[in-house]
Amino acid sequence: KKIPKLFESLKIKDLTFHNRIGVSPMCEYSSKDGFPTDYHLIHYGSLALRGPGLIIVEAAAISPEGRITPDDLGIWNDEQALALKRVVDFVHSQGQKIGIQLGHAGRKGSTVPPFFHLKEYAKPEDGGWQTVAPSPISFRDGVLPAPRELKIDEIKEIAEKWGAAAKRSIEISGFDFVEIHAAHGYLLNEFMSETSNKRTDAYGGSFDNRTRLVLDVVAEIKKNIAIAKIPLFIRVSASENLEDVDESGWKIEDTNRLADKLILAGVDVIDVSSGGNSDNQASRTRASVKEDLHVTLARQVKNHVGNRALVAYVRGLKTASVAESLLEENVADIVLVGRNFLKNPGLVWEWADQLDIRVTAAQQYVWGFYPPPL
Ligand code: FNR
Repeated sequence: KKIPKLFESLKIKDLTFHNRIGVSPMCEYSSKDGFPTDYHLIHYGSLALRGPGLIIVEAAAISPEGRITPDDLGIWNDEQALALKRVVDFVHSQGQKIGIQLGHAGRKGSTVPPFFHLKEYAKPEDGGWQTVAPSPISFRDGVLPAPRELKIDEIKEIAEKWGAAAKRSIEISGFDFVEIHAAHGYLLNEFMSETSNKRTDAYGGSFDNRTRLVLDVVAEIKKNIAIAKIPLFIRVSASENLEDVDESGWKIEDTNRLADKLILAGVDVIDVSSGGNSDNQASRTRASVKEDLHVTLARQVKNHVGNRALVAYVRGLKTASVAESLLEENVADIVLVGRNFLKNPGLVWEWADQLDIRVTAAQQYVWGFYPPPL
């Protein structure tokens, strides 16, 4: 019987994923001083027991100012990385692969966790801080104070901190791979887009200048991890335009142009998302966004990169048949699921049932479904 594409293994560099279904990175805002808590062990552990080919741990800040909220996960020091090892070790004990998304929130930092308020600034007395960005333009006028414009040497330091965070992720925590967060209007995306980047130095203006930081970050990561062996993912907002309106800002053509450079620099997987760099398009999950937007975007990126890189699809996946068709039709090579994994950590198992094949999950769970001989 033919194995559905979703359940085919996938080898990237020296790492083999046992299927092509992944848990999309999702901030849980449940950390203390950047450290993971028991919440993380249970949350990621319960997912790992039930068979995803890969889990991408939520955006972890490369520096304290890089957090979205004071409760974000961080990996700016060795102790935090060591605390994450507990999560990684458990996931590995289940024969599963796990990576981590490394991010910096830029001007979208210092907010309160979204389950308390969707649009509120975290004041200094709530653990907030002065945010930083390419240019001093508030993301949300009248609500979020303007960020401070970064100096050139600070920008260089940020790239180095990304490299150090990647090194910690691999060497101390034991993650199998890393993902750079360059989407959703956070720092790297702010540099990439002319709507948020008004600099006139080497980091602003031309396309090459606006993409300089993200490429510096890749270069720093390359210096710090064994890039020939370890898969490198990057999440981009492939377009700032979420609806059919002509707006300025980053476009799919820019993404494809950047993809060429990223591939040459050693990136393996382009994880295609959208939006987030303007307040009226702030929500990744907004209902008004066309349902198939990411199918269109992922297809355009895949058509452009061909076999030079893998593409990850994310958004709205519920059923195995839709996910399978994305792989069959060569829209993407990997499918990521966010919210439906929160609702159902057994989603991979459910999809295996829908496709009538056996799942690979914790033996403690599956043996009762597929008993050994008497
Ligand atoms: C997210 N998303 C997200 N994306 C990202 O790149 N890094 C992150 O840390 C987060 N955090 C996050 C938290 C929560 C609670 C949600 C719901 C979403 C976006 C997420 O990874 C995914 O791209 C979207 O949710 C769309 O996929 P689904 O949920 O429709 O499968």
